[in-house]
Amino acid sequence: MMFKGYPQFENFYKNGVYLDNAATSYPKPQCVIKSINDYILYNGVSSSRGAYKKAMEADYMVYETRKWIGELFNHKKPSDIVFTSGITEALNGIMCGMLKEGDHVVTSSIEHNAVWRCLKTLERDRNISITNVEITKEGITNPNDVEKNIQQNTKLIVFNHASNVIGTIQPIREIGAIAKQHGIPFLVDAAQSAGMLPIDMEDDNISILAFTGHKGLLAPSGTGGFVLNWDGDIKAWKSGGTGGNSADPYMSEITPNKYEAGTMNMVGISGLHASIRYLLDVGVDKIHNNEKEVIAYALEKLESIDGIRVFGTKDPEKMVGSIAITIDGIDSGKGGSLLDKKYNIMVRSGIHCAPMLHKIMGTDKNGAIRIGIGYTTTKEEIDYLIYALEELLKGELA
Ligand SMILES: Cc1ncc(COP(=O)(O)O)c(C=O)c1O
Repeated sequence: MMFKGYPQFENFYKNGVYLDNAATSYPKPQCVIKSINDYILYNGVSSSRGAYKKAMEADYMVYETRKWIGELFNHKKPSDIVFTSGITEALNGIMCGMLKEGDHVVTSSIEHNAVWRCLKTLERDRNISITNVEITKEGITNPNDVEKNIQQNTKLIVFNHASNVIGTIQPIREIGAIAKQHGIPFLVDAAQSAGMLPIDMEDDNISILAFTGHKGLLAPSGTGGFVLNWDGDIKAWKSGGTGGNSADPYMSEITPNKYEAGTMNMVGISGLHASIRYLLDVGVDKIHNNEKEVIAYALEKLESIDGIRVFGTKDPEKMVGSIAITIDGIDSGKGGSLLDKKYNIMVRSGIHCAPMLHKIMGTDKNGAIRIGIGYTTTKEEIDYLIYALEELLKGELA
């Protein structure tokens, strides 16, 4: 394909432009690929299972990954960092492990299904009650509205840190302070913020931070977990081998073993080991500032196109790199598919596992197109997207 006046777009057309980082980050840093490769080639053994040298090296890698995750989120105790298959397992496990019949939960009205479906299932099966706190027009929760909705039986406040659709950042520090004042645990879904925004367990008043490895943390899928900064009761949601006290018929009460039944995802953790080190070395602040520039650029360009509607705050200071748009007269599913077929641009169309938010946006029927900016996204790639959207609006692609 020829791009008159834009020869630099040829490469983008040939190699593709990945703008689906809110789903999963791509590409991963070279050090992550090397670490996974080295683990498989030169180590390849289980952790917490053997007493031979290689097993101890594997143990140390897991320990160091916990320690570095603690550094990233300012939590001192590596044994409070629990690995799961991802944030979906972490959130489900925590909420199912702590909520009982008659408990009340305060949450936002824009949660991802990993929180929302889990709460709805507990409402149906365990008779818990849920209050969804309304968002402002910008897509942000007012912390006062959280406080107003606390009841005597409120046993949990759970919020996403940043929206996976419109990117808006919630005031977790203020919400956490309210939770603390009322003695209620505060669970944060950091799927869209870990590795992209600085997070401090102490300053942000977080009781439990759930994270996923494969998005901003730049590790492979199948990794994630939570950081426990709360000493209340969370029942283990699975039983199995942990490599210790094998004659005990029940799971150990000691964290992290209590929640880590079964052989760990060592290949994934070897990737996480390298990616967390990478983030600590580069600095989340730096990544955040770079992304903010590209987000600001994308917002300005998108908003200048007649026929494109941008949802959410539109303020790069208040969001991460998820931008939801609709295109006048073009179904979002079709628009996304045309961007891929004709321009090799990868975005995600639909309702992005966030049905409540799409209802608020009025896009629950036709969905939206989500542009997922990541740590490698450039302004030139945004120019290419803008070019393609303008062609689409001219009817050039239909
Ligand atoms: C806000 C939010 N929470 C939870 C999840 C679930 O993440 P995972 O599929 O890695 O478990 C996602 C993934 O898109 C998300 O964006």
